[in-house]
Order: sequence, then structure tokens, then C-alpha cells
Amino acid sequence: MVLFNVSRVVTTPFGDQKPGTSGLRKKVKVFKQPNYLQNFVQSTFNALPPQNVRGATLVVSGDGRYFSEDAIQIITKMAAGNGLRRVWVGQNGLLSTPAVSAVIRERVGVDGSKATGAFILTASHNPGGPNEDFGIKYNMENGGPAPEGITDKIYENTKTIKEYLTADLPDVDITTIGVTSFSGSEGQFDVEVFDSASDYIKLMKSIFDFESIRKLLSSPKFTFCYDALHGVAGAYAKRIFVEELGAQESSLLNCVPKEDFGGGHPDPNLTYAKELVARMGLGKSNSEVEPPEFGAAADGDADRNMILGKRFFVTPSDSVAIIAANAVEAIPYFSAGLKGVARSMPTSAALDVVAKNLNLKFFEVPTGWKFFGNLMDAGLCSVCGEESFGTGSDHIREKDGIWAVLAWLSILAYKNRENLDGGKLVTVEDIVRNHWAAYGRHYYTRYDYENVDAGAAKELMACLVKLQSSLAEVNEIVSGIQSDVSKVVHADEFEYKDPVDGSISKHQGIRYLFEDGSRLVFRLSGTGSEGATIRLYIEQYEKDPSKTGRDSQDALAPLVAVALGLSKMQEFTGRSAPTVIT
Ligand code: G6P
Ligand code: ZN
Repeated sequence: MVLFNVSRVVTTPFGDQKPGTSGLRKKVKVFKQPNYLQNFVQSTFNALPPQNVRGATLVVSGDGRYFSEDAIQIITKMAAGNGLRRVWVGQNGLLSTPAVSAVIRERVGVDGSKATGAFILTASHNPGGPNEDFGIKYNMENGGPAPEGITDKIYENTKTIKEYLTADLPDVDITTIGVTSFSGSEGQFDVEVFDSASDYIKLMKSIFDFESIRKLLSSPKFTFCYDALHGVAGAYAKRIFVEELGAQESSLLNCVPKEDFGGGHPDPNLTYAKELVARMGLGKSNSEVEPPEFGAAADGDADRNMILGKRFFVTPSDSVAIIAANAVEAIPYFSAGLKGVARSMPTSAALDVVAKNLNLKFFEVPTGWKFFGNLMDAGLCSVCGEESFGTGSDHIREKDGIWAVLAWLSILAYKNRENLDGGKLVTVEDIVRNHWAAYGRHYYTRYDYENVDAGAAKELMACLVKLQSSLAEVNEIVSGIQSDVSKVVHADEFEYKDPVDGSISKHQGIRYLFEDGSRLVFRLSGTGSEGATIRLYIEQYEKDPSKTGRDSQDALAPLVAVALGLSKMQEFTGRSAPTVIT
């Protein structure tokens, strides 16, 4: 056994290590500064309860982006230096964010150990490479992101840090499965490298009826396509969709994980998942090839998803509502019923209507998956989702991109259980249109203005808040821009009191609520790494089944005009058009 010594390294604080919505995200160049990563990791160890450090088992892995391997080696040495007992690493350092959550909750090590937490190395849907983004976040023993109490403490520690602990271990081989043991003055330290997919696959098999999905995927009537955008989902897609469920290998696009995501932007939306969008017959494609019946994509760390039908886009807000409406019948894990459902505030109210109809507990939380985790730990929520292409359930404490695809495939398999041998296929589009006919439709769009001047973005938001004090003035402006939209009846900044721990989160987005149920929401993104990103969410409810089939940009045009006018978007940002529309 290799012996190691621990040393204390003197360091000085960096002023910019405040964790955002999902940990610390910065340019790789920032992370590569001497001691930058070390300071954050030590500040995290110092913020955790002692049982998560001394003698503990830590998972360290991520989406495989540039700088991940260096980070894994640094963190492993620091784990040994801080007295942890073992580190678990997915083979080649790869684990999707949902798989990390599953591994913390479910995996038992070769020596019977259980994990107490994880460092997830990812900047999610942000691009990767030497000039792009890297990120790190800590997840707790419930498998979910560290709560604000911990992340605040981490930030405080980063401001005063004076030293960190590290061990003089050699680099570990993370390409080969197995355990390497080391011996320090306080005892043994192990690094266990394990298969990235098997624990996650086991969990998926306990949730879904793989046999019925296999029947769907092997039917000549049903065609399928999955785009991992060169993110970590590729490490799961072949194993699950091809080997377990019988999809054709040619149905996988960009499923080889790459450290720079092939130069792309690994964000599954209509702008960035270009290849999939074209293959599905959306946008300006003139391909003569018949598009597949079903398409889906994932982001870099595979917690997000986009669901598409043939020439048809499913909004994430509709997706979670439709999954909730069909879960009990189509997914064995939910057969006993749903404990409750939840969405983030800017997500459309499609889920609210399902909850009301099915008499389910319902929660509206601020943006950020961690708010769902508390509800789930308390047994109040089974299915939840966000407009930002996140969907999931209480099987883990992160959103789960592949889970969402399996949920949709389960619904399709269920709806087609008698059609696969004869009869017309019920398509993704049929399922969505039938849902609108039954529950009404929430026309929905999101405009993103990326990397705008941070000062200008703040001013724009401040003006919108100020304006809220006079609804009369707001309505005067609104009717001046567009005479045929309904009146604003309420305007506020969203505030949330967690029903489980009583904590209060303020300033969670600026809302303008209209008499007919329409909503405008303005928020600053918490996940960018440069400048500010303004998000504008626009929603309108249509209950009349004869009016639910319109093009959403057409239907929403008047509200968009109001939103841009009210916020003086162009005046503040200098932008005449958004960077991305979803
Ligand atoms: C991360 C979180 C999501 C959240 C999203 C918001 O992906 O995991 O729960 O919805 O960030 O991002 P934004 O850029 O809008 O703050
Ligand atoms: Zn992600």
C-alpha cells in the first residue's frame, strides 16, 4: 500500500467564490488560477458537518468537461488530506448529475460503504473547453444540492480561508474499474473507480416497465432519436436505449462524451440542439427523409431534457403536466398514486390545472431544483418540473433527463399498448393535443437576453419593481402598447415560504399577473458566468378547445409587445432581439 503524508498549504482568499443557483461556475481560466479550486473545496469541507468529512465517503465525478480530470486528482488528494475514508469516481470521471444523486442514495461500495455526499463537476448546459466554463457543486447525503445554509457558509469560508489540506498521493488511474488503497498516518484511504451507468440503470429498471418500452421501440411503427449533444448522457444512452431497450444504434446522435461538447452549446433547446431539431423536421429543414416519431436531447450533465415529436415541440411546462396526468397509469413506480406535484414559479400553470383536476397537492416554488428536494424529503411531492427543461421525480433529488425520456416512452407505450400490432400510432403530438383539449392550453414562450451588461440588467429590473407600486400607471402603459390584452390585476416580486423548514426566499422573480390568467415574469439568471442574462417568461391560458391549436409565437405576440415595452428592453440592453427563444 502506498504511504502518504498530509501537508497544510498556505493560501489567500478569492473574492468571487459565491455559489450560484447550482454551485460555482466560472471560466476554466479562473478555475486554473493557483489554489482557486483548492480554496473552494477546502471551504466546502470546512462548511460541512464533521461526519461528511472525517471517515466519510465522497463521490467525485461529472460531465467530463475540460479540466474535470485535473479537478478529480486535486479533490482526491484533498479528500485524503482532510481525513475522508474513501472517494468514489465514475469510470473516466463520468457521472451524470442524476446518476450522482442515485449513487449517493442507492450505491453500496465493494466494502459495504455508503456515500455521504458528492462533488459534481459540471457547468451543466454551458459550453466547455479551455476558453469556456467549468463548475463544481456539492450534494448532500439525500442526493440533492447543498441547501442555502451550507452554500452561504461555504461562501463565508472562501472569504477568510488561510490554508488547505492535501496529501502527496500519486495521481490515480480513473480509467480502470477497481479500488486503489493508500495508507496515511490516520489510516487507510481508498479510491474506488466504478461503472458510471450500472447503478443508474438498476434504478431506472425499478421505476419503469422496460419490457413495454422495449416493445414500443422495437415496433417498426415507432422511430426514435436521442441527442446527447456530446454530454455525459452519451455514457448512458447506448446502454439504456440500445442495449436494454432495443433502439437502433443509428438513433443515437452525438452520444460520445467530449470535453468540449464538440464545440457546441450542450443545452437541449430549439436553438442549440440544431441537429436533432433538423432531424425531427422542425425549423427550416427541407430534408425528404421522414422524421422520427420521437426525439429527445440532454444537456452536458444530463439532468435537462427536451422532448420532441415529429415536427412538434413539447414545451417543458406541458411535458411535466402531461407526465403528471399519465404517471399513475403508465409508470409502475407511481401506480399507488402521486403524493403531490410541484413546479417552479416561471413554469406555466399547465401543471396547476392537472393538479386541480386530479385533486393533487400542488406547490409553486422558486427557480432551482433544491426547493423540490425539501418537499420530496417530506413526502409531499412525486413529480415536478421547470420551464428550463428540467423534469423529475422523487426517485432522486436532481432533475433527470433520461428519466424524462423514459417517462414519455412509457406514456407512448401505454397509449399504444393495443396499437402496435395493428391500428394507428398515437403520436407525441396526439398526446399533447388531447391534453390541451382536456385541460386547456398554456401558450408559453421564454425570451433570453444573454451576456448583457450587468448594470443595465439591474436597472431594468429595478424599474420593473418600481413600476409595480402603481397598477394604474402599469395599465396605462399596457393599453398604450396593446389595446386588446387584459388588465394587470396584480404585480409583485415572488416570495416563497418553504412549507417544510419555514425558510423564506425573497426576490425570486418579478411578476405581472393579468385578469385573464396571463403572466409576464422577469428574472435574472443565476447560472451564467459572464455579464447578466435576463429571462422573460410569457404565458397565456386558453381554455376554448377550438382555440388551442394556434402557433404559440403568433398567439403570444401582443403579450410579447407589452413585455418589451413595459421593461424598455431595447432601451436598457441595446438589444433588438433576444439571444434565444424557447
Ligand atoms: C439550474 C437549476 C435549475 C434551474 C436553472 C435556472 O439548471 O438546476 O433548477 O431551473 O438552473 O437557471 P437560470 O439560468 O434561469 O437561473
Ligand atoms: Zn444540467
